[in-house]
Amino acid sequence: MGARISDFRIEPVSASSTGIREALSRGEAPAGLCVPVREFCRCKGLYGAAGKMDEADRWINQLFDALKPTRFAHSLSVADTSRLLALRFGENPLQAEQAGLLHDCAKCLPLSEMQKIARDHQLTQDESILSTGALLHSVAGAWLARERYGVTDPEVLEAIAWHNTGHVGMSRLAMCVCLADFMEPNRESYPLLEEVRRLAEHSLEQALLLSLEGTAEYVCSRGKYLHPRTQETIAWLKTLPGIHS
Ligand SMILES: [Fe+2]
Ligand SMILES: [Fe+2]
Repeated sequence: MGARISDFRIEPVSASSTGIREALSRGEAPAGLCVPVREFCRCKGLYGAAGKMDEADRWINQLFDALKPTRFAHSLSVADTSRLLALRFGENPLQAEQAGLLHDCAKCLPLSEMQKIARDHQLTQDESILSTGALLHSVAGAWLARERYGVTDPEVLEAIAWHNTGHVGMSRLAMCVCLADFMEPNRESYPLLEEVRRLAEHSLEQALLLSLEGTAEYVCSRGKYLHPRTQETIAWLKTLPGIHS
């Protein structure tokens, strides 16, 4: 079954359909349209929306079948936020949008299935990653994006693979996707969220650093396992020019 606009739970709003059409066709954000719906229209080129993604019909239908509704809406919001961050910071907006859309494509698989993919295709030997879906879905997701969604762009695949822990030397495109995951408009609030969004107005690296530090603090404060890659990425970000720690 494919995704339809009626699959979204949308609160009734007072809005002009002509105004929505006109704004979408100008590539603008119409008032009264929530972000996932706006991105859904954009990707599919509905209602005259500018920015249609060639692969969108297939990808969105696949994602709709693979993800829970909230994860599907989150993926659309991350696609939109990644694209906007890429535009703001001089990265390729289409690559960012694609990686954002697919970043969680493996998230709703059972852990055993992610482990099978990772072991069969030798994606990682790291037992700490193999033991938890929260870490493994990024690596498995990059594989799925290539094999099941047909993504061949290595930069898009890298952005998917590193979206939850970050990575030393990660590209600025991958930073856009990682940061978008932390700050998309429907993201459940956390103590540093508004500060992360404020920093993201002018510094990609600074905002990503704060969001990773917040994640590290949250994970450690609850006695959970923090993958060393997150700590390594934090240390690396602090060495970049213009970063204040
Ligand atoms: Fe994720
Ligand atoms: Fe996500």
